[in-house]
Amino acid sequence: MAGPTHDFLQPFERIQRLMDSEPGEQGGRRVILINDPADVQTVMHSPVIVRNETMRALAGDGLIFSDGDKWRERRRAMQPSFPPSDPERHAPEVEWAVAGLMSRLERIAGTGETFLLLEEMLRFTTRLIYRVAFGIELSVDHDKAPMLIRFFDSAGETSMAFIDSRSPLDINAMRQFQDARRDLDEEIESIIDHGRRSGVGADHVLGVLLGKSSEEPDFTEEDVRDEIRTLLLAGAETTSNVLTWLFLLLDAHPDERDVIEAELDEAATNDRLRSAILETMRLFPPVWFISRKAIGSVSVSGHDFEEGDWAFLCTYLVQRNPDYWERPNDFVPDRFAPGYELPHRYAWFPFGGGRHLCLGKALGELETFVAARRIMHSFRLVRADDDPLPPRIGLVLKPCHDVPMLVEERTRG
Ligand code: HEM
Repeated sequence: MAGPTHDFLQPFERIQRLMDSEPGEQGGRRVILINDPADVQTVMHSPVIVRNETMRALAGDGLIFSDGDKWRERRRAMQPSFPPSDPERHAPEVEWAVAGLMSRLERIAGTGETFLLLEEMLRFTTRLIYRVAFGIELSVDHDKAPMLIRFFDSAGETSMAFIDSRSPLDINAMRQFQDARRDLDEEIESIIDHGRRSGVGADHVLGVLLGKSSEEPDFTEEDVRDEIRTLLLAGAETTSNVLTWLFLLLDAHPDERDVIEAELDEAATNDRLRSAILETMRLFPPVWFISRKAIGSVSVSGHDFEEGDWAFLCTYLVQRNPDYWERPNDFVPDRFAPGYELPHRYAWFPFGGGRHLCLGKALGELETFVAARRIMHSFRLVRADDDPLPPRIGLVLKPCHDVPMLVEERTRG
């Protein structure tokens, strides 16, 4: 049998085509495409370029899709649950969730069967966000992942119609999205019920949100629901995709995997693993685009934005821009060796930047690193099929279908 197809390493043409199109009309508005780090910096820090309404219609007006005073007030309320000054804040919960993931992989290794990489990683990240944000302990084998995947994928399909004028709105995709949204909304109701019944406190962000809704008439039940949806959306599928791409890249680059394994066995550092994670997020940023709109006139390196124009920042292409990166499409963890310097502050920005910098950055970094380290210490994850695997663009950048993997026990050197 031929070895696995590593076609996913090739630059993804659909994104390139999207970005190559001249600034033009999409859905009756002018969209300006941006793939230079200096322009990203200007847009991210401009007071007259703000979030647009692309996703609000699909996923509500939570922290991740809002801006202005509403956003500021929510960010102030939710930030203390994810303090940037204390990156280890959620270490006990991360250890707990990683232990669950490891017990499942041990069981699978014992049977010699395959498992689905994306679904397994999402099961892990979902279990963690439920515990951290909602104070809910899901079982190790919980089955929320397929429901979330249906929501993420159908929202992704639908959102492409807003982004890419060549992807007309598909009625079937819209229907699937409505069904998936109904299921997700039922799940959100049960999270709120659980929070009320258990009297969840302010050490979980759900407690903060419920407290706010009972004290402040302007903060409604709908606001609580929007924030729970935000946390599920932002907190689960992002990290699960980083882990997925990391294991696919290591499977495609056995030499790199050997270096990391040797370091885990022999050295007191995890530098190479850390570098591989940064490089994975460069090649496959889960949030592969960020869209904004101008609320006034502003010039961004030659583009004159007028009120109502949209900016489409393509993280995927910025992070592969050959003017800033050598061998931009290759997996080269060594470029992030300790002491590395970025070619530009915004040449690598998988967590965004400016005032909307990811709320869960420290949590996302910690869970990715701890899970990857523990898995690689005990096991080797190997692709079980050789199907082509081009990336799929939707809300996040992910493989076009889930990937069966084998778990091999590792003999340590
Ligand atoms: C590797 C994992 C992650 C990546 C790559 C990532 C990426 C991002 C990016 C690019 C943004 C900025 C979006 C924009 O500018 O419009 C963002 C915002 C956000 N992220 Fe993350 N994220 C990750 C993990 C998490 C986790 C674990 C949480 C859970 C708390 C989270 C919660 C949020 C929230 C609430 C925002 C909105 C922040 C605001 O607008 O003030 N993220 N994330």
